[in-house]
Amino acid sequence: MKNLSDEKIKSAVLKSYKSIAISNGASESCCNNKTLTIKNSPVDISSKIGYSMKELESAPKESNMGLGCGNPQLIANIKEGETVLDLGCGAGFDCFLAADKVGDKGMVIGVDMTFEMLKKARATSRRNRYKNVDFRLGEIENLPVENAIVDVIISNCVINLSTNKQRVYNEAYRALKKGGRIAISDIVIMKELTEEMKNDEKLYCG
Ligand SMILES: C[S@@+](CC[C@H](N)C(=O)[O-])C[C@H]1O[C@@H](n2cnc3c(N)ncnc32)[C@H](O)[C@@H]1O
Repeated sequence: MKNLSDEKIKSAVLKSYKSIAISNGASESCCNNKTLTIKNSPVDISSKIGYSMKELESAPKESNMGLGCGNPQLIANIKEGETVLDLGCGAGFDCFLAADKVGDKGMVIGVDMTFEMLKKARATSRRNRYKNVDFRLGEIENLPVENAIVDVIISNCVINLSTNKQRVYNEAYRALKKGGRIAISDIVIMKELTEEMKNDEKLYCG
């Protein structure tokens, strides 16, 4: 976005995901918004973007808000005992799937800047008695994570929303152990957007 300041964009993104969290996703969600007019349930969306029925049934239903745009865990190769970091975890869907993979000896950290998303994720975690997931409020450009403690970073449809992507990658590198890996699912641009599109807050968030 050329004419909107980074602060304005960030506050639009926060506002948008706060409202999605409060309204429980669905009607306004990322790939389900009025502009794109794809009206599907979170399960429909997730099965179309690479999640298996087994995955969809194993994670708490309320954590899947249909906000992803792929399945980063298809390429993350998460193993038992590993520490996983999810950049922009939303209501925690990918974190809960990863928690089952890393098991009791592993750990999953979910970071998101929208308090209402984390509130949902934490409540789901408590209700389902997850002991190996820690949801942290923060920005992916300033990760609330120590240096070199993470084996695998995953992220689903979040980095496109950042106004400082280089900083996100610098922070990811800082948090990763030597030899660590990163698996990102995100949207990419296939052709130049019009100026009008570039300056549309709703399109940016959606
Ligand atoms: C499209 S949703 C994806 C949520 C989750 N990854 C999923 O697949 O269900 C984008 C999420 O990223 C969060 N987010 C956006 N920009 C962020 C940033 N700069 N730092 C932290 N979280 C951010 C939003 O609050 C929102 O929860």
